[in-house]
Amino acid sequence: VKLMTDQDLSGKRVLIRQDLNVPLDDGKITSTVRIDASLPTIQKALDGGAKVLLMSHLGRPEEGTYDEAASLAPVAAELSKKLGRDVALVKDWVDGVDMGDADVVLLENVRFNAGEKANDDALAKKMAALCDIFVMDAFGTAHRAQASTHGVAKFAPIACAGPLLAGELDALGKALDNPARPLVAIVGGSKVSTKLSVLDALSKIADILVVGGGISNTFVASAGNEVGNSLYEKDLMPEAQRLRDTTEVVFATDVRTTKDGFSDWSHDSKTEVKAASDIQADEEIIDYGPETAARVAEIIKNAKTVLWNGPCGVFEYDAFAKGTEVISRAIAESDAFSVAGGGDTLAAIDKWNLADQVSYVSTGGGAFLEFVEGKQLPAVAILEERAKG
Ligand code: 3PG
Repeated sequence: VKLMTDQDLSGKRVLIRQDLNVPLDDGKITSTVRIDASLPTIQKALDGGAKVLLMSHLGRPEEGTYDEAASLAPVAAELSKKLGRDVALVKDWVDGVDMGDADVVLLENVRFNAGEKANDDALAKKMAALCDIFVMDAFGTAHRAQASTHGVAKFAPIACAGPLLAGELDALGKALDNPARPLVAIVGGSKVSTKLSVLDALSKIADILVVGGGISNTFVASAGNEVGNSLYEKDLMPEAQRLRDTTEVVFATDVRTTKDGFSDWSHDSKTEVKAASDIQADEEIIDYGPETAARVAEIIKNAKTVLWNGPCGVFEYDAFAKGTEVISRAIAESDAFSVAGGGDTLAAIDKWNLADQVSYVSTGGGAFLEFVEGKQLPAVAILEERAKG
């Protein structure tokens, strides 16, 4: 693909698609990870003398109307603060933008426009008409073929990849194509069903596949154990068995359980450590036990590449967080090339302030998983097509 860093941006109108889809609570941004990740690209474009138009989606508003709850206004404020210059939010922009003296503006939520999600050509052409150069930098949305990620790249005079997107592809490529071995993949989260294609793909390339959270529970059950009240998927036990037949899968042999019901969960819920073979009907697995956590930490220590997606327990509550903490710290301390991705995974890394110690933290959720599955990301595919001319 063409790269933004190879283009002469001086005096050009440069339209940059970022993924500024940040989590909001009552209008306040709760994680600025994606904003922070976009800053170097924006700064580079400004330093190159570009007139910068930023665009992004936020949430999943109904198309064709303005919805204040999904406005990018809080993002414009945060960008202004972090860039140390005024980043105005442009509400009506589809038919042209008068930038005046400004060198950077943020276009209001692309998903307010009818045709965005359907990748409508007419809308994409209007976006393309705003710029001399289109820069796709939104790795987190690269798995969507929409007007602002795919269509616009078809019609813009020049379409290229921004530094964040290029960096993500490099880091993930390094972990997945020809990785330093052993490659250890850790997949946590609640359900086997939502991660089955990822587990399948990783079972083919990883030397050791470690599973955590509710996913581990299905493996615990498929190994013939009672799992009491634990979250697990009975109908996917054969899949768990099949994965174990094809690769070395590590799952919990000791667990932390609670008898508290979901509505009573708290930071100081009462828990018990048990062998995975000793779970009672009124108990629920909510974390790895210490032996399993230590065993996984040792596996991580001996790895040369670690790929991580998904927590190993209900880490949002301190009482259930020990396993995920041990694993996060082991990844942070290891010398392996480590890549982590996914919303919950980022939250776990944040909880213990370990972002600087992981080799690469991806900004992608769904896009990260699709890349790991080996799927082609449509927004990258169109850049490749354009580069062929
Ligand atoms: C994400 O948060 O995964 C991306 O921003 C994509 O959002 P979407 O799932 O609403 O397309």
